[in-house]
Amino acid sequence: MKLAVLSFIIISFFHFSHSSPQKFTSIFSFGNSLADTGNFLILGAAAYPFVGHLPYGITYFHHPTGRFSDGRLVVDFIAESQGLPLLPSYLASHENFRQGANFAVAGATALDPAFFQEIGVGLWTNYSLSTQLRWFDELKPSLCKTPQGLFTECSEYFKKSLFLVGEIGGNDYNFPLVAGKSLAEVTSFVPKVVQTIAEAIERLTERGAVNLLVPGNLPIGCLPLYLTLFATMEKEDYDDRNWCLIKLNNLARYHNELLKSAIKQLRRKHPEARIIYADYYSALLQFVHSPRHFGFYSGTQKACCGSGGQYNFNLTAPCGSEGSHVCKDPSTYLSWDGLHLTEAAYHHIANGLLDGSFTDLPLII
Ligand SMILES: *[C@@H]1O[C@H](CO)[C@@H](O)[C@H](O)[C@H]1NC(C)=O
Ligand SMILES: *[C@@H]1O[C@H](CO)[C@@H](O)[C@H](O)[C@H]1NC(C)=O
Repeated sequence: MKLAVLSFIIISFFHFSHSSPQKFTSIFSFGNSLADTGNFLILGAAAYPFVGHLPYGITYFHHPTGRFSDGRLVVDFIAESQGLPLLPSYLASHENFRQGANFAVAGATALDPAFFQEIGVGLWTNYSLSTQLRWFDELKPSLCKTPQGLFTECSEYFKKSLFLVGEIGGNDYNFPLVAGKSLAEVTSFVPKVVQTIAEAIERLTERGAVNLLVPGNLPIGCLPLYLTLFATMEKEDYDDRNWCLIKLNNLARYHNELLKSAIKQLRRKHPEARIIYADYYSALLQFVHSPRHFGFYSGTQKACCGSGGQYNFNLTAPCGSEGSHVCKDPSTYLSWDGLHLTEAAYHHIANGLLDGSFTDLPLII
């Protein structure tokens, strides 16, 4: 009898001290097509209508959802891991956003559209990061009440919220590069882009965000789109380990280095916030370097969906257009359509964010 009581106490203590990690009770997501779960499609998708048709959505949903993939995205897997429903798109009306909202819009840039208009570069959408932040500000009063005082409803609510800030910024380079701007010119945008992202992070912390996950840019020199559009005959333009375009990866690394140092500064300024860097760059390089380890048996440089060519990417005949075809098993590919990743790849990234292998601070505590 005594033993039973004792073991009960021990078990209870054990259970208590090893209690399961606190789950987030809501998620707010900002960004571009790597995180958009429907806003772009709801807006009309004139710039890229194919996302509204199969094979987009073929894997998990079995119908198009506005996600630029065959299935779920990183944000979906994070929501699932927290026991939350998949985030509703902010522009989907009549939704209850108490458990989170997704403000990301495919094609979104960190910088405002005026910047690109001035340099003569067309965009897919004008819903840049500042618009998405404004949407959040508009939604906020319906989420929680925010009068004065330290322990307001909002501060309690947002303490348990995860803010996914990005990936954002990649399109600030993608659109100008595809439009023919020089790498030198595009590289000169980087400090401005990073500063804009840092300001967004700061603004969210001032609104009460405590847990912020900030992804860096992908190694774009490894993506079929860039491998196709920037193909050269010069062997030394490719790294001999992974056969990616060195200069384009250097652009992404420069962005990521500045972003990481901006995050360090923000951490000092806002010690109450947990601002976490998500290393999408290293994640993808791992996939490219050891594809079979991650199940990418069909390789990492050819897109699953496209209309042929060395990397199965053609800008004038993209995935979903007439004549394009989809691979038999998307889960064996890293790249879905030449720019975006497969559900399988997003799942690996999400796992690495949740277990800490792709973040510089633990996401789950
Ligand atoms: C963005 O705004 C500009 C200026 O108002 C407009 O000319 C352009 O068509 C818009 N682009 C999109 C994709 O809506
Ligand atoms: C890309 O697609 C267009 C339109 O279908 C076609 O005319 C062109 O030959 C393709 N380019 C390559 C390199 O396959």
